[in-house]
Amino acid sequence: MKRTEIKEALEGKLVGQQITLMGWVRSRRGNKNVSFIALNDGSTIKNIQIVVDLQNFTEEQLKPITTGSCIKAEGLLVESMGKGQTVEMQANALHVFGTADVDTYPLQKKGHTMEYLREIAHLRPRTNTFGAVFRLRHHMAMAIHTYFHQHGYFYFHTPLITASDCEGAGQMFQVTTKNLYNLKKDQNGQIDYSDDFFGKQTALTVSGQLEGELGALALGKIYTFGPTFRAENSNTPRHLAEFWMIEPEVAFIDKTDLMDIEEDFLKFCVRWALDNCQDDLQFLNDMFDKGLIERLQKVVDTEFVRLPYTEGINILQQAIKNGKKFEFPCAWGDDLASEHERYLVEEHFGKPVIMTDYPREIKAFYMKQNADGKTVQGTDVLFPSIGEIIGGSVREEDYDKLMAEIEARQIPMKDMWWYLDTRRFGSAPHAGFGLGFERLMLFVTGMQNIRDVIPFPRTPKTAEF
Ligand code: 4AD
Ligand code: MG
Repeated sequence: MKRTEIKEALEGKLVGQQITLMGWVRSRRGNKNVSFIALNDGSTIKNIQIVVDLQNFTEEQLKPITTGSCIKAEGLLVESMGKGQTVEMQANALHVFGTADVDTYPLQKKGHTMEYLREIAHLRPRTNTFGAVFRLRHHMAMAIHTYFHQHGYFYFHTPLITASDCEGAGQMFQVTTKNLYNLKKDQNGQIDYSDDFFGKQTALTVSGQLEGELGALALGKIYTFGPTFRAENSNTPRHLAEFWMIEPEVAFIDKTDLMDIEEDFLKFCVRWALDNCQDDLQFLNDMFDKGLIERLQKVVDTEFVRLPYTEGINILQQAIKNGKKFEFPCAWGDDLASEHERYLVEEHFGKPVIMTDYPREIKAFYMKQNADGKTVQGTDVLFPSIGEIIGGSVREEDYDKLMAEIEARQIPMKDMWWYLDTRRFGSAPHAGFGLGFERLMLFVTGMQNIRDVIPFPRTPKTAEF
């Protein structure tokens, strides 16, 4: 089946030729002489108009061509008279692949709410909005691979099933083949995993970082790009139970180098969207978020602020003194809430912020400790309208310090011996970060809810589709 994609047809080079188009009917209107079909095949946000001269077709032939139906149209591509389109097709043959019943097709009308569209996530890719979002999603994935490939990183595949909790937050989904209806327990009431599939307790990974570090300490520069899973029961517009994370890990860099990479990488991705996804961005800008393109351009053009946590807390405390109200506390030692991050980024600086040197207690065990004994070299990137988009840090490369931290946090050693070996054999300074892919998608699309930037979201109590 040879076809021309609508994207190519609209470029105009094929005017004067007989072509074949295939796609889904967005609408059909007309009068008793002529019918106009707006056809979309997903290759672009734009529809092509198919002009059907009713002298050549019967009403019976046209009747099944309704909104949502899938057709093949053959005809001549011509310059268009109608305003707003450059070319159109004069049909000389039509074939219906699949009908869509007028009374039951869920995308009959325009202007459905995002909540409703989530309930029909199997069909929402056929809307303009989700077509734009998912094409952008593809392009951002390409941007990420391109950036790392061009900079000499190796794509390193880390396991999805693991026995270690990288972030130590206890938010893992267990993986087991045990019979849950008949669980054997030992004398202490503990479940015995020795007869489970892997012979030990395992779960879906929350991060590929620990294995990524093994890669970096051999190949120099690696990145991962894969799904991660968190059983955190946070029903927010920024959290998913299954999300994609990009985790570069680099040997022989320090905190400044790490921040330089974070900033350069994010700017590259946003610039890529501006350069490669103009039509889709323009649509999202016009329909949802009039400031979208301007916000993207601004991130590309401005230097990120680099702000130690302690200074950030001082700014927030000053703001409170000046009458600013926050829902959550923000004394030194507190984990910042999204409202604090957004205040710093959107109101105080008006720029993305890389926050550094967090209190040790609120960060993961692997972060490099500063000489003050209180802070660690974290480097999170905070973005306008998103809050935390990247979580990163220099890693503690000193065996004794790392070991002391693991013991203090009572992390089970039996699951960590291989990680500690990197610090026993040829340890090296190294650092890395994790970018939440869907947080980046929220930023580049201007969507308000993380459920709307992944085709089939997984959140508490929802695993449909
Ligand atoms: O800050 P996090 O927890 O850092 C790590 O996992 C490190 N191991 C990364 C590293 O240094 N290699 O998560 C990293 C990023 C966050 O900044 C956020 O963008 C995203 O992952 N993220 C989530 N995105 C969607 N839903 C969730 N539940 C998320 N949790 C984290
Ligand atoms: Mg984080």
